[in-house]
Amino acid sequence: MDLSCLMRPRKICLCKCVSRADVTEAVAGGADTFRKLIEKTHATTGCGTCYQEMYAAFREEKEKAACQLTGQIGLKF
Ligand code: FES
Repeated sequence: MDLSCLMRPRKICLCKCVSRADVTEAVAGGADTFRKLIEKTHATTGCGTCYQEMYAAFREEKEKAACQLTGQIGLKF
């Protein structure tokens, strides 16, 4: 049995209940700037402590989406 299916996704933004999956979904749905991501999810609009982690998640998801478009492998240096 895959136990991960029983786990709730970890929220990056606790105030607005935004998970990594929500970020992935928003980027796939056309949030190509951080401002658009915030407009879609309302992440970072509460206490603001999640800003750095949310921005990092956004950049990673955008990078993944770009790699899928170009067929390149995303390398981190
Ligand atoms: S944790 Fe994201 S705004 Fe508070």
